[in-house]
Formats: sequence, structure tokens, C-alpha cells
Amino acid sequence: MYVCVCSAVTDSQIREAICEGACSMRELRQKLGVASECGRCSQCALGILRGQQSASQPSPSEHAVAFA
Ligand code: FES
Repeated sequence: MYVCVCSAVTDSQIREAICEGACSMRELRQKLGVASECGRCSQCALGILRGQQSASQPSPSEHAVAFA
């Protein structure tokens, strides 16, 4: 699905950029051009970014095991 029509950026491209290390809207903008024109896609792109970041963080129980 296209998230950024202005720069023709899809949600898959955004997820891939996040997996490759992009961790902020600034980095997504620099890497893909997302939210660099009209800005209408910024909330959707931010939602994908936050969703990916929360999905990649360990749950509290996993965190406790990691530091046990
Ligand atoms: S839709 Fe992304 S900058 Fe316009």
C-alpha cells in the first residue's frame, strides 16, 4: 500500500528501512523521501515506525530473562 503518494513510498519500503536501522521520521525522510513534500503521510508513516519499534522490543518477561 502506498503511504506517501508524493514520493511513491509503500509501507513495505518503510518497514524495510526500519529493519535496516532507520529509527526516526528524519531518517525515513532522508532514506525514502517520505513526508518530504505535502506531509499528509507523516502520521501514517509515524504509526508504522512506532508499530515496528514496539514489535521489536522484548516483552517485560523477556526483558527480565535477558537480564536475569
Ligand atoms: S504524501 Fe508523503 S509527502 Fe505528500
